[in-house]
Amino acid sequence: MQVVSISSLKGGVGKTSVTTGLASAALAAGIPTLVVDLDPHADASTALGVRPGDQLDIGRMLKSPRRARLAENVVPSGWVERGSANGGAPAGRTSVLDVAVGSAYTGIYDRPDLGRRDLRRLSAVLAGAEKYELVLVDCPPSLNGLTRMAWSASDKVTLVAEPGLFSVAGTERTMRAIQLFRQEFAPNLSPAGIVANRVRTGSAEHTFRLAEMESMFGELLLSPHIPEQANWQQIQGAAHSIHHWPGDSAKNAAALFDTLLANLLQADGRQSGAPVRDRVRR
Ligand SMILES: Nc1ncnc2c1ncn2[C@@H]1O[C@H](COP(=O)(O)OP(=O)(O)OP(=O)(O)O)[C@@H](O)[C@H]1O
Ligand SMILES: [Mg+2]
Repeated sequence: MQVVSISSLKGGVGKTSVTTGLASAALAAGIPTLVVDLDPHADASTALGVRPGDQLDIGRMLKSPRRARLAENVVPSGWVERGSANGGAPAGRTSVLDVAVGSAYTGIYDRPDLGRRDLRRLSAVLAGAEKYELVLVDCPPSLNGLTRMAWSASDKVTLVAEPGLFSVAGTERTMRAIQLFRQEFAPNLSPAGIVANRVRTGSAEHTFRLAEMESMFGELLLSPHIPEQANWQQIQGAAHSIHHWPGDSAKNAAALFDTLLANLLQADGRQSGAPVRDRVRR
């Protein structure tokens, strides 16, 4: 099992979109996957089309991690039944895409001063996640308790950034925070890389920022980049998977997420060692 957190200090850069794109690729590949929706806004749960019954949400599971019984409280994504036979998984594989449903209740842990014991709550809940090959954790836009709890339960952290000054600067700060966190709490945690999202190919600013990100982060900048996708909000609004949406643009985006997932799972978290360049354009 690999646990991958999808994080960023800055809001709205596409964490949930990347999480759901990767979940869609994992579902299509037949990789049994759990999405943990750690954001109190619960956007990933909405996008994944969950219909919760009387299961405990992730906030309540975190409250009593030893009694959480994850297997009884996950909810299958609505994407599984919408797919073709067997959810569209390749022959011989079964379709498993479950969600530990988000709720505002998780907000009680999103403090800057969360102690060591509290940081281990998600790891304790995920002790019941052996049936999954992949666990994706969608984090809120901060480096407070919830994101740090996600990091301490993760093998890898993926950062999402738009090719803009503030987002690139935020990514650099987050990268430093990960290094400090590794030293103090999680020596085995590795940054799996940075996903550049909402890239506009014709934009001079985006071309400049991508080149800057390449020199700052080296191999940690994952490929492929995810372009600005005109129908993305419509697909999310319909709580659909990108792999099941009709049309060539969705098919192309789905193929990008297939490659991104493969590259991310292979990423070994090597550091680029490249010096951080002055971010001000001369
Ligand atoms: N590649 C893309 N193309 C077009 N729209 C996108 C793309 N990625 C994200 N968006 C849109 O941008 C908005 C923010 O995306 P998303 O919710 O995934 O970001 P987030 O980082 O999870 O936000 P938050 O910090 O609030 O959790 C959403 O409306 C989403 O549909
Ligand atoms: Mg989000």
